[in-house]
Amino acid sequence: MKKSILIIDDQPQVLQTVHRYLQGMSAEWLVELTDNGKTALQMMALKPFDVVVCDLVMPGLDGTQFLNEVQQTYPQTIRIIMCWQTERSLLQRLFGVAHQYLFKPFDESTLINLLSGVLARSQLVNDDKLAGLVSQLKNVPSMPQLYVDLVREMRSENASLQRAGEIIAKDPGMTAKILQLVNSAFFGHRSGVSSPEEAAIYLGIETIKSLVLSLQVFSFFTRSQIKTFNINQIWQHSMATAMLAKRVCMSIDSDMQMADEAFTAGLLHDLGKLVLAANLPVVYQEVLQICKQQSLNLADAERRKFSASHGEIGGFLLGLWGLPDSVIEAVSLHHNPGSAANLVISPLTAVHVANALIHNPEQDVGSPPELDFDYLATLGLAHFIPHWNDLLAESQDAGQVSNKEMCLA
Ligand SMILES: [Fe+2]
Ligand SMILES: [Fe+2]
Repeated sequence: MKKSILIIDDQPQVLQTVHRYLQGMSAEWLVELTDNGKTALQMMALKPFDVVVCDLVMPGLDGTQFLNEVQQTYPQTIRIIMCWQTERSLLQRLFGVAHQYLFKPFDESTLINLLSGVLARSQLVNDDKLAGLVSQLKNVPSMPQLYVDLVREMRSENASLQRAGEIIAKDPGMTAKILQLVNSAFFGHRSGVSSPEEAAIYLGIETIKSLVLSLQVFSFFTRSQIKTFNINQIWQHSMATAMLAKRVCMSIDSDMQMADEAFTAGLLHDLGKLVLAANLPVVYQEVLQICKQQSLNLADAERRKFSASHGEIGGFLLGLWGLPDSVIEAVSLHHNPGSAANLVISPLTAVHVANALIHNPEQDVGSPPELDFDYLATLGLAHFIPHWNDLLAESQDAGQVSNKEMCLA
């Protein structure tokens, strides 16, 4: 079945351009255009759309109001906002309303890649219940703007670490958090790193990008005042998992991209817990309680209640943001890696191992996560387990696992 896309912009030339760009996709996509939000809502009332792409600043119903309405009434529709570079500052208020951003002017391939990406990833999860559940939740962050800016910079032809550093430096709160982290035990107390540019030189831009993304996501949830968990503890656990996952990766393969993706996935692997705790605090508290009383595995208990575990919920959200499939898979399946479509060594392997080894009795509810020996044996990795335990012990000695220095607030 063709996917349906609705484009809304009050400027006729933008609609004409989009129409021209998307003509070649007419075999796969049904694209409809309109110049105002009110008509768009009437069109949506007649039939569902898979994606809406809406201009931010429009007379009458503006982009934010329109997407708010879509979020409430058609939660399963993917929401993309477009705006001119000069309007970027207005995007702050959209955190949580749009899934992705599109900056004007854009070229044909940017538009087609963005739409193909969100549509492919929404199929990857292929679970209407999950899509419905996540889309209905109100306290869900959008992809952070600062991260989008960094990705753009690093993809540009004359990308530079200096400019990446300048982008981060525009946000003093983020700069302080990054520097605190880079100078902490997590990174071996590398003292004296005093600018984001220096941090990017020491740790590599991929690591810095992942830290920016996860720090912004965690601060979003800090603001929503989660009571179910100590969010700082989840942050410590996520950092420790990311660090160990990267080392686990490097112990079995020299592929740096895989190690970087394992790091990113490690930082975000429990994102779904935050999403559930911030949006469904009472029900989630009950799930945790049942888990404790019956010594159940948390992911199984969540699946019984929500038809999805925190892994799948986090993975779904990251899919909407366009993160790499390997990161989405690692987050989605970190408690059940054996269900992966392809049983190969991947970031999932490393995040599963790191998460299971760093279980924390204070934080784990119910039965702790366990290593999936069959999965590791299938990959021919079972003999690595003692070595990974040694890596864990080294990280504990270095203070990377029970680090208490970093505070998100
Ligand atoms: Fe988990
Ligand atoms: Fe975890």
